[in-house]
Amino acid sequence: MTVLRRGAALFHASACYGCHRIEGVSNGKLGPELTRVGAKWPIEYIRESIVFPKANSPLTIMPAFGLGNEDVTALTVYLKSQTGENLVRGPVTQYDSLKEWKARKPADVPLTVAAGEKLFRDMACNACHTINGAGGKIGPDLSVYGLQRAKEYMIQHHINPRSVVGGSIMPDFDYSVSGLEAIALYLSSLKSLTADNAVVYAPAKQQ
Ligand code: HEC
Ligand code: HEC
Repeated sequence: MTVLRRGAALFHASACYGCHRIEGVSNGKLGPELTRVGAKWPIEYIRESIVFPKANSPLTIMPAFGLGNEDVTALTVYLKSQTGENLVRGPVTQYDSLKEWKARKPADVPLTVAAGEKLFRDMACNACHTINGAGGKIGPDLSVYGLQRAKEYMIQHHINPRSVVGGSIMPDFDYSVSGLEAIALYLSSLKSLTADNAVVYAPAKQQ
């Protein structure tokens, strides 16, 4: 896999696409558009934005992902290649990896709590959600989520957050049927009320 292609894959695998728009690639709206980020910023700035998002805006909602050096390099190279000209004369690899992404079927996973937990991490859900003290803070803390919702609700919400929470900014993800079940199993298992994780999410009343 080329570095560029690896960066394109990571852009999805690390949930960057959930917050950033790149024309023809993604539609996230919480962060700045990155369609021309490569023309706008030097490579060092892009790298720093990924490794240490707070460097340029101390209050940013962009999580620090703790990615390894090679992954950061791949993402930086990928973003540096986004100059807004890609759509007409960009590297073919960009189209290839986008095609691959679109054609890809989310993998089947075993129906276990452990598989759900792994998927939760692999899909970078923890970029926005804290569980037992670790994770992002854009979405609700899910430490005791198993006490709060039925499995059917979880699945419905994951398929389309806005079908149950009007105006939700949580991104739509691609799941396999077993992936949906496994994540719901994992979230249902989160019920240990301790002093540290007892942050109970009280969503707005459903109409
Ligand atoms: C939860 C939303 C969110 C996620 C997920 C996210 N970002 Fe961001 N990103 C932001 C926000 C918001 C900013 C703007 C910084 C600020 O002012 O808060 C930003 C800024 C940036 C910038 C600087 C752009 C500029 O023009 O200054 C880059 C580059 C960037 N993000 C890359 C990434 C990459 C790569 C990933 C995935 C590893 C990622 N982002 C994931 C929200 C996000
Ligand atoms: C870019 C940030 C972001 C990412 C990434 C994200 N979420 Fe969310 N999530 C939110 C926000 C914001 C809410 C609150 C609005 C809502 O409930 O839809 C939320 C709500 C939730 C809720 C509570 C819903 C309810 O009404 O009870 C669950 C469960 C959840 N997310 C699971 C996930 C899972 C699983 C993933 C990964 C596949 C994920 N989230 C990825 C932002 C995010």
